[in-house]
Amino acid sequence: MSDERRRACAADGHRPLDRRLCVAPMMDWTDRHCRYFHRQLAPHALLYTEMITAAAIRHGDRERLLGFDPAERPLALQLGGSDPAELAFAARIGEAFGYDEIDLNCGCPSPRVRKGAFGAALMAEPERVAACIEAMRAATRLPVTVKCRIGIDDCDDYPFLRRFVELVAAAGCRVFVVHARKAWLEGLSPKENREIPPLRHDLLRRLAAERPDLLFVANGGIRTPAEVRDHLAHVAGVMIGREAYQNPWRLAELDRALFGPGAPVSRHEVVERMAAYAERQAARGVPLKAIARHMLGLFNGLPGARAWRRSLGEGMIRPEAGPDLLLRAASRVRLPDAPSPELTPC
Ligand SMILES: Cc1cc2nc3c(=O)[nH]c(=O)nc-3n(C[C@H](O)[C@H](O)[C@H](O)COP(=O)(O)O)c2cc1C
Repeated sequence: MSDERRRACAADGHRPLDRRLCVAPMMDWTDRHCRYFHRQLAPHALLYTEMITAAAIRHGDRERLLGFDPAERPLALQLGGSDPAELAFAARIGEAFGYDEIDLNCGCPSPRVRKGAFGAALMAEPERVAACIEAMRAATRLPVTVKCRIGIDDCDDYPFLRRFVELVAAAGCRVFVVHARKAWLEGLSPKENREIPPLRHDLLRRLAAERPDLLFVANGGIRTPAEVRDHLAHVAGVMIGREAYQNPWRLAELDRALFGPGAPVSRHEVVERMAAYAERQAARGVPLKAIARHMLGLFNGLPGARAWRRSLGEGMIRPEAGPDLLLRAASRVRLPDAPSPELTPC
């Protein structure tokens, strides 16, 4: 980003959002504790909330649904919904809570979401998505973005994707996060819909080449620094989902590879910071398990990983479990963090 653009963003009260590394919205996974953990690993990543429905924001306990620690920023709020007025209301509340971006979910194929006629089903209704984007943009000064698939059911060719993006872009959406596989709305579970339809990053790359005025973030099956480098030659950013959750140290590797110094140098350093966080959360009545459950994969790939997972997994469910459990479990993994051979800057 140029200095001029950076100054303009600062003057506007916005932080410029660097989208090169994003961590995917993942229901039941990327709650506030998970995001705090991911932030310790990847200081420069753009983080996303789980999808929160606009209806829940209208009717529910907003502090519980939307509250977060300022350290989680930059942070995008992902909304689910299809009613322009309700989404506009939710976007306004999101801005007041301090989020940095509002994202509309157009990619979730779960039956519950489909019943509400939003998520991936919205890809069949680009005009409605455009109306939602317009209403949200009128309600907030934050960037309003869309996360979608490359298609749904039999609508999975390039013209379908291109038409969807064109109509939504005409309503003012500049950023599209694209999970590069289609979703089958009938017949596949949400998990199968993340695994069975083949990845077609080629369609996204074509679109990115044809619409250089828009920003595209590639999502789906991206894991290693080498893969990230490859994608970044074509799109503005990458979004990492399951790999970030199941192998969280990968986030530190990716952050360092992309942004240089700033990421933690050891997993033990991260555990210490998380123990301090758990201590503060305990004072608010948050059980250790709510935090520790996201950390089970931290030592994956190291010989001590099993011992860590076992002590943490067994210990965190005990009622007396406290933050010191994190330190004790980590003390059993004494190996230094060997630098990854893939850590060349990209
Ligand atoms: C447990 C889980 C929950 C998810 N929940 C959401 C969600 O709330 N909103 C969304 O847009 N995508 C959701 N996704 C999809 C991810 O954001 C991402 O698009 C998908 O996992 C593909 O990326 P990956 O191959 O890097 O995991 C979820 C994925 C998983 C595994």
